[in-house]
Amino acid sequence: MVVDTVSGAAGALKLFQKKQTLRDEVRGEVTSLAALPPHPGVMKLAVCLAMTDRMAIITEFIDGTTLSNVIANGKRIRDDALKLVLAQLVCGIGVCHEGGILHRDIKPGNIMVDSDSGVVKLIDFGLSV
Ligand SMILES: Nc1ncnc2c1ncn2[C@@H]1O[C@H](COP(=O)(O)OP(=O)(O)OP(=O)(O)O)[C@@H](O)[C@H]1O
Ligand SMILES: [Mg+2]
Repeated sequence: MVVDTVSGAAGALKLFQKKQTLRDEVRGEVTSLAALPPHPGVMKLAVCLAMTDRMAIITEFIDGTTLSNVIANGKRIRDDALKLVLAQLVCGIGVCHEGGILHRDIKPGNIMVDSDSGVVKLIDFGLSV
């Protein structure tokens, strides 16, 4: 988590070394996130920074966990809760597809659940087109 000490707003920072393949990955992630309308099911992009040897993006901070962590912790998700997760996930994917974006890396590690609200968010658009 990073904090804007002026506004107090929290964000999530993802740093990339500036290699060619990663430049493409950052470009894909930034282009896709910037193209999509704001939706609770899709992580929001705040800033993309280019430095001499690195790039960074700052997105909304999701105070929660990935579905892969939930699975790794051996937690059972009740059927009704799972239906809610899947319904939200389908909405998030739908927003991407309506915006002409294919995520191409949908997996438990790229799906986060906000701890307080239970809102499900698609993250990691590095492979998206
Ligand atoms: N917006 C966010 N808010 C809070 N945590 C996040 C956010 N985005 C990503 N994370 C955390 O950082 C991890 C890695 O993020 P991401 O999937 O974007 O990077 P990655 O380069 O693909 O890494 P990995 O290879 O681990 O998937 C996520 O699994 C999640 O735990
Ligand atoms: Mg990932």
